[in-house]
Amino acid sequence: METVTSIAQVRDRIHAWRAAHERVALVPTMGNLHAGHQSLLAAAHARAQRVVASIFINPLQFGPNEDFTRYPRTPREDERLLTEAGCDLLFAPPVAEIYPQADQPTRIHVRGLSETLCGQFRPGHFDGVATVVAKLLIIIGPDVAVFGEKDYQQLLIIRRMAGDLALPMQIVGAPVVRAPDGLALSSRNQYLSPAERARAPAIHRALREAAAALESGATDYAALERAGTVALTQAEMRVDYFAVRDAADLAPPRSDSARLAVLAAAWLGRARLIDNVRVMPPVRG
Ligand code: PAF
Repeated sequence: METVTSIAQVRDRIHAWRAAHERVALVPTMGNLHAGHQSLLAAAHARAQRVVASIFINPLQFGPNEDFTRYPRTPREDERLLTEAGCDLLFAPPVAEIYPQADQPTRIHVRGLSETLCGQFRPGHFDGVATVVAKLLIIIGPDVAVFGEKDYQQLLIIRRMAGDLALPMQIVGAPVVRAPDGLALSSRNQYLSPAERARAPAIHRALREAAAALESGATDYAALERAGTVALTQAEMRVDYFAVRDAADLAPPRSDSARLAVLAAAWLGRARLIDNVRVMPPVRG
């Protein structure tokens, strides 16, 4: 696998593949790769001849008091994992390559979807995500780009952004990868102490309980949200939200919602954990 750091280099390599009529898939990441990322790479390989990964810890998507400086950086291990996964090219640009106007970068804001749920607790976060992903999609111009469904709100925002800007690539979501006890894999799980790690599966358990109730026809969403919040609080988490939403647009459920999402974000020690499950409620007559 080759690693390049400049926009000119990455465009040059992709130009050669395009000339040979090869399909290109992109897996954008912030590094510190784990089995969740491996599943994104597998999904990319299934859809294209060439797979490009990017590693860029995007300062624009971290708030002033967030974990940008201590976000885990493991470049050697990441290169090894990408090579093993058969990745063709790694794009690992420095910040100045992506944001030449460091103080005043042009930003993309996806209205509505960016303000709810995590957007309420992390102001500006999704503008940072939408901006960097748009830029990576424009630089690389893949046929398909793959994102994890663990960050479900992020996935919907990226889909909306790509649609609104008429970016021609397909945006694919790959299922959440979980530890055997149900905890969704995330680089931020490393912030958990052993005692916190033991309590962390409560988040998936609470989501599944709400999902099971919805599948059996429960419609008192506020009661499910309260029960989920109580379960996470009992596991000593500080809950940002536990919410039942329409899976298509994250609006409150409607009587004709075909799919619902139950989403949660909660602090456990220094780690902010997010997770979600999607369900099909029974058709209402
Ligand atoms: O999900 C992530 O790792 C990041 O938000 C992404 C999509 C790579 C943008 O920086």
